Amino acid sequence: MDDGNKIWIFDTTLRDGEQALKASLTEVEKVAVAQAIARLNVDVMEVGFPVSSPSDFNAVSRIANEVHGPIICGLARAVKADIDACGNALAGAEKRRIHTFIASSPIHLKHKLRKTLAEATEQAVEAIRHARRYTTDVEFSCEDAGRTPIEDLCYMVERAIAAGATTINIPDTVGYTLPHEFAETIWALKEKVPNIEEARISVHCHNDLGLAVANSIAGIEAGARQIECTMNGIGERAGNAALEEAVMALKIRQDKFKAHTQIKSDEIYRCSRTVSQICRMPVQPNKAIVGENAFSHSSGIHQDGVLKAENTYEIMRPEDVGVPTNELNLTSRSGRHVIQHRLHSLGYAKEDYDMERVYADYLELADKKGTVYDYDLEALVFFNTISQNKHYDLSYFQANASSEQVATATVAIEFDGQVQVEAATGNGPVEAAFQAIERITGQTFTIIDYTIDSKGKGADALGQVDLILESDNQRFHGSGLATDVVEASIQAYIHALNDIHRSAQIHQFKHQNLRKTG
Ligand code: KIV
Ligand code: ZN
Repeated sequence: MDDGNKIWIFDTTLRDGEQALKASLTEVEKVAVAQAIARLNVDVMEVGFPVSSPSDFNAVSRIANEVHGPIICGLARAVKADIDACGNALAGAEKRRIHTFIASSPIHLKHKLRKTLAEATEQAVEAIRHARRYTTDVEFSCEDAGRTPIEDLCYMVERAIAAGATTINIPDTVGYTLPHEFAETIWALKEKVPNIEEARISVHCHNDLGLAVANSIAGIEAGARQIECTMNGIGERAGNAALEEAVMALKIRQDKFKAHTQIKSDEIYRCSRTVSQICRMPVQPNKAIVGENAFSHSSGIHQDGVLKAENTYEIMRPEDVGVPTNELNLTSRSGRHVIQHRLHSLGYAKEDYDMERVYADYLELADKKGTVYDYDLEALVFFNTISQNKHYDLSYFQANASSEQVATATVAIEFDGQVQVEAATGNGPVEAAFQAIERITGQTFTIIDYTIDSKGKGADALGQVDLILESDNQRFHGSGLATDVVEASIQAYIHALNDIHRSAQIHQFKHQNLRKTG
């Protein structure tokens, strides 16, 4: 039961966050993100927009069936077909919510919807009534509420509640509002909407002016009781309110807010890493709460102060948000038990990974690197999760580059029970390797994006390569992790090739079945 001071955390990483990524996530990746967010103990997680594509529908449905704990929510425009898709996708969830929305601002009504406020409100009312056939938990959003005159907003909100909406969300869709203005909007709704107590007020702020968290907190001070946010603040344009910042602001400044969330804050860091890794969205080093520098002190005066008393320059401890503090010395002599123990203390249950595969990769890495750190282990678990069912597998490669001669690469790939080898030249060893792979597979793709990131610290770090290949107007992401960036690049290319192959198989399967039934 809510005590009136509980603030609901509604995570929308897999909906508002995901829709801003360069390449959409695969179903397996979405489930992995959903599990990480569920471990935070959020109240609600919005995991997709089921009508938007069959793959989004399937991912929402799979998460609804497999992820337990939070209420699972899907987004739907105020349109019958959207709500039906949402209701069907969520059918397997223990607890489900349909989130429907329509714009309320004069700009959106005139230019986008070409409707009057009354017409849009009528459409919202019908949509909410329809959603109530699937669940009693219906959320309604007035899109672009931040630029809607307060009388118009009150008009729409009152009717939405009367139609059965149990949560009313007030989005600052374009991140235009200032904190005191946003607070005034929430106050005004509480004062002017006669049935407002029948619904929970929610805030959903975008970060175009860098004010998403400030606006959300201002909304809470004015009486809102749900914050919509994403991990690491990912989302449309400049992003959404960052979950970790909003949660920690409420926790650290409890003296001010007298409010609390049910978030397990010591899960924040791990979730942030998982989201950054899977979504290919690096976290800036100075990012509040989860950035690499968030807890490091550089100036001599600060270091001296922290050594004397931590609270001289620290308002929270790294452990409060789950930043790992002890790094066990893991080498090729460490056994399975130690690895399992370490993974357990990093929060991974045995069911989260295949020990045999992780351990085989671990030994290979330990041989190359000497010492394996926590972040290496986490990366191994992650790469094991996403790279199942390989059609193409790297057997070996050799690459040569020099300042005098053109680069060359030889790559051997196993598929269909055979190993095929090709050699090629290129502007650099990575390009040469990619050319060799294209010769082996007989397929050419456009590389839309290619990034290299270092995982770990110093010369010992692993190289992570992420690339996006385009095939038939569809984008496929591949990731590779190795001590050598050419190897990581080849792995990333092969990872994307495997996804392209899997997608072609699914397509073929559907086509055959359609022909059978049609
Ligand atoms: O920003 C926004 O207005 C949204 C709505 C769909 C809630 O994301
Ligand atoms: Zn949004």
